[in-house]
Amino acid sequence: MTTIDLPLLPLGKGRDLTTERGVECPGDLPAASDPDLVARARKAKEALGDRVFVLGHHYQRDEVIQFADVTGDSFKLARDAAARPEAEFIVFCGVHFMAESADILTADTQKVILPDLSAGCSMADMARLSQVEDAWDAMADAGVQGSVVPVTYMNSSADIKAFCGRNGGVVCTSSNADVALEWAFAQKPDAKILFLPDQHLGRNTAVLKMGFSLDDCVVWDPQKPGGGLTAQQLQDAKMILWKGHCSVHGRFSEAVVDELRAQHEDIKILVHPECKHEVVLKADLVGSTEFIIKTIEAAEPGTTWAIGTELNLVKRLADAHPDKNIVFLDRNVCYCSTMNRIDLPHFVWAMESLVAGQVVNQITVDPDTERDALVALERMLSLPGKSHRD
Ligand code: 13P
Ligand code: SF4
Repeated sequence: MTTIDLPLLPLGKGRDLTTERGVECPGDLPAASDPDLVARARKAKEALGDRVFVLGHHYQRDEVIQFADVTGDSFKLARDAAARPEAEFIVFCGVHFMAESADILTADTQKVILPDLSAGCSMADMARLSQVEDAWDAMADAGVQGSVVPVTYMNSSADIKAFCGRNGGVVCTSSNADVALEWAFAQKPDAKILFLPDQHLGRNTAVLKMGFSLDDCVVWDPQKPGGGLTAQQLQDAKMILWKGHCSVHGRFSEAVVDELRAQHEDIKILVHPECKHEVVLKADLVGSTEFIIKTIEAAEPGTTWAIGTELNLVKRLADAHPDKNIVFLDRNVCYCSTMNRIDLPHFVWAMESLVAGQVVNQITVDPDTERDALVALERMLSLPGKSHRD
C-alpha cells in the first residue's frame, strides 16, 4: 500500500511501487513516460474490435478505466463478462480473484487476461486452501463440523470458493452477505457459519444486519494451533470468522471519524463493510461499492460526505460530483496497491500482445476447481430477495 502524508483533501494521485507477488511481465513493457500510451491503447482496442471486452473495477486508476467497456463491482463485472460470449478475450482490469471468477463464469472458449499478474488481493491471500482444510478437520475434532456451513466472500481464491461448493456452502458479496447468511443458517438445525476470509464483513453483517451479538462471534486464527479456539468456544459460536482483513479498509479509524465530525457539523460518514466494526458503528451509512456510488449520486447538492473506501473510487466520485463536498476518511493516501498494479503500460502491453496474436497473462481455473466453485457461485445467484447489488 502506498502511504504518503497528505491532508484529508485535496485528493492526490499516488504511484504504487510495490510488487506483492514478485511476478515479472514477459516481453517489453512500454515505459510509463511514453507520451503515446493513450493513442497506443486506443489503436490496439480498435484493432481488436468486438474480439475484446474490457472490464474495469471501480477501484482502478482513471488512466485505465477510460478504456473499460463496462465498470462495476467484482460480481457485476463477472456477470458482464458472462454476458459477452462473442468476445474472444476478456481483459480484466481488476485483481486476480475477479479474473478467476470471470473465467469460471465464461465459456471455455473465452480467454480471461489480467494485465499484471502481480495484481492479487492481500485479503484473498489470507485464506489458503490447506489452512481452511486444517480448520475444517479441527471442527470435526471439536464435534461441530456437521453443523458448519462455509460462506466465502467473493474476495477469495477459486479453490476457497470450490471448498464452499463441495461442503454445502455459498459465495457472497458485500451487498448480499446478509441474504447469504440467512440462507446458510437455514441449511441445518443449529447451523453455525465459517465466514471466509474477511472477519470484518462477517462480523458487521452478523451483528448489524442479523441481530447476533459480538459474543456469538469467534475468530479463527490460521496462524495458531486449533485456530486459537477451544472446542467449547467452537461449540458455543454462531459465527466462526476467519482472521482475514482488507489492508486498505482496515486503515479507517474511529479517530478520523471523530475529527471530521468535530470539523463539519453535518458531515455524513459512508463506509464499506470491510471496515472495522468500531468504525462501522460510528458511520451513518454502510454498504458495498455500488451502494456507496448510488448514495452519492442521490445525495443533495451542498451535502458533505466522508467516504471510507478505496481512494481511486473516492477521488472519481469527488470529481464527478463537484456540487457535493466529498472527503476521504483517512489522513494518508490509501490506494489498493494491487489494484493499482494495472496501469497504462501493462494495459497497452496486454492489448498489443493480443493484436500481435500472443495471449499473455491468461487466468485459467482448473476444471475440478471450476466445477465446485461454480456450485457455490450458482447458489449465490439463486439467493432470494436482493440482487448482488443494493
Ligand atoms: P466489490 O465487491 O465491491 O467489487 O469490492 C471488491 C473489493 O475488493 C472491496 O475491497
Ligand atoms: Fe483486496 Fe482490499 Fe484491494 Fe479489495 S481493496 S482488492 S479487498 S486488498
